[in-house]
Amino acid sequence: MSNRGKFSGRVGFILAATGSAIGLSNIWRFPYLAGQNGGAVFLIIYLACVFLFCFPVMVGEIAIGRAAGTDAYGAYTKLGGKKWGLLGIFGVISGIFILSYYNVVAGWAFGYFVELTFGPLLQESDFGSFFSSFVNDINSNFFYSLGFLFLTALAVVRGIQKGIETANKILMPSLFVILIGLILYSLTLPNAKEGIRFYLVPDFSEIKLQTVFDALRLAFFTLSLGIGGLITYGSYVQKSENIIYSASVVTWADTIVAFLAGLMVFPLVFSAGQSPAEGPALVFMVMPEIFQQMGPTIGKIVGASFFLLLCFAALPSCISLLELPVAYFVDQKKYPRKYVVWILSLVIFLLGLPSLASFGAIPALNKLWFYKQRDFLTLVADITDITLTIGGCLMCIFISYRWKLHNMNAELAIGNESFRGSLMQKYIDFTIRWACPLLLGVLSVLIIIDKFWGFNF
Ligand code: PFF
Repeated sequence: MSNRGKFSGRVGFILAATGSAIGLSNIWRFPYLAGQNGGAVFLIIYLACVFLFCFPVMVGEIAIGRAAGTDAYGAYTKLGGKKWGLLGIFGVISGIFILSYYNVVAGWAFGYFVELTFGPLLQESDFGSFFSSFVNDINSNFFYSLGFLFLTALAVVRGIQKGIETANKILMPSLFVILIGLILYSLTLPNAKEGIRFYLVPDFSEIKLQTVFDALRLAFFTLSLGIGGLITYGSYVQKSENIIYSASVVTWADTIVAFLAGLMVFPLVFSAGQSPAEGPALVFMVMPEIFQQMGPTIGKIVGASFFLLLCFAALPSCISLLELPVAYFVDQKKYPRKYVVWILSLVIFLLGLPSLASFGAIPALNKLWFYKQRDFLTLVADITDITLTIGGCLMCIFISYRWKLHNMNAELAIGNESFRGSLMQKYIDFTIRWACPLLLGVLSVLIIIDKFWGFNF
C-alpha cells in the first residue's frame, strides 16, 4: 500500500477536494437555479443545506477513506465486509457515468472558449440556434471532449502529488483570480445594482418546496458526495491532519465560489436587460449575448475569461471523478496506474459518445421515447443524480449501523484531540445517524418521482 501515494499535506488535500467540489455546478447550475428560485431566498436555503446536512456527510466520507487507506470498494469491504463492498462498486460505476456526460459538457465549455477566442462566435445573431448547431456538430465536439478528457488523464496518470496536487495548485488560484476579475468588471456595469439587489435581498414569498428540493440536490452534487470520490481522496490524507478542519475549508471554499459566481452573473444579466430565470440556457445562450453587447474587444476578453473559468472549474472535478475508478483498479487489481488511466479514459470517452450524439446527431438519442422525449445526456445526468443521493443515504447507514459512529469518531479524533465529546461530535453523530439518511432517502424518492412522472412542488 505504501507506494499508492499521499497528499503532501493539508494544503494539497484541501486544494484537491476543493477542486473536486468546485465545478460546472458552481458556475452554471447555482446561478441559474438561484435565478429561477428567487435569488437571495435560494442562497439562504442552499447555505442551510450545505452546512447543516452536507458538511457532516463530507466529514464521514473522508473519515471512511482515511481509516481504510484504500479505494472506495476496498474501504467499504475492509470496514464492513464484502457485501458493503458493493456500495463501493456502485460508487465507482456512478463516477464513471458522471464523468462520461460531465466531460461532454466540459467539452462544450472548452469549445466555446476556443470558438469565442479564435473564431467569429461573438458575431452570431442568434445564440440559441448557434448553441443548437454547436452541440449538434459531433465532429468538433468529438475533439473538444477528447481533448478535455486527455488533460484530465494527463493529471491523473502522474499520480497524487505530481499530477493531481500540482494541477490543482495551478488551477484553483487561477480560477479565483479570473472570478474576482470578472466580478470587479461586472460590478462597474450600469444596472449592476439591480442584479445585486435581486441576488442579495430575499423575497420570502418566493419560498416553495421546490426551492428546498433544488437547493439540497445541488448542495449534495456540488460537494461531490455520495459516490466515494472523497473516500478515495481521504485515503491519501495523512493521519496528522484534522479532517473536520479540512472539510470545513473545502465546504466554505466551494460555497464562496458558488456565491461569487452569482455575484458575477447577476450584474451581467441585469445590465444586459436579460432575465435571470433563463434556466440551463444561461451559460451557453444568454452569456454570449451579454458578451456581444460589450463590443468586440471587451466582449472577447471577458467572454474568453468566462469560458476559461468554466474549464478551470470543470477540470479538477473530472480529475477526481477519474481518480475514483482508477484507485479501484490500482488498489484492488494491482494494475499499473499508467495503463489503468489510459484504458479507463478511453472506455469513459466511448461511454460518453451517446451523450455527445444526443443533440441531433443521432435523432433517436435526442428524444428518448421511454424518457418523456428527453435526450440521452439528461437521462444519464438524472440517473447519476439519483445514485449520488442513494449512495449518500447508504453511506450514512453504513457508518451508523455497520462501521459504527464510535469508530468514525475515533478516526476524526486523530489529528483533532478536542473533537471527542464536543458539540461538533454530537451534531455529526445526530445528522449521520438520523437526519441525513432520512433526508437523502426522501430526496432520492422525490427525484425519481419528479424525473419519471414529474410534478411541481
Ligand atoms: N462537484 C462537481 C461540480 O460541482 O460540478 C461535480 C462532481 C465532481 C460530482 C465529482 C461528483 C464527483 F464525485
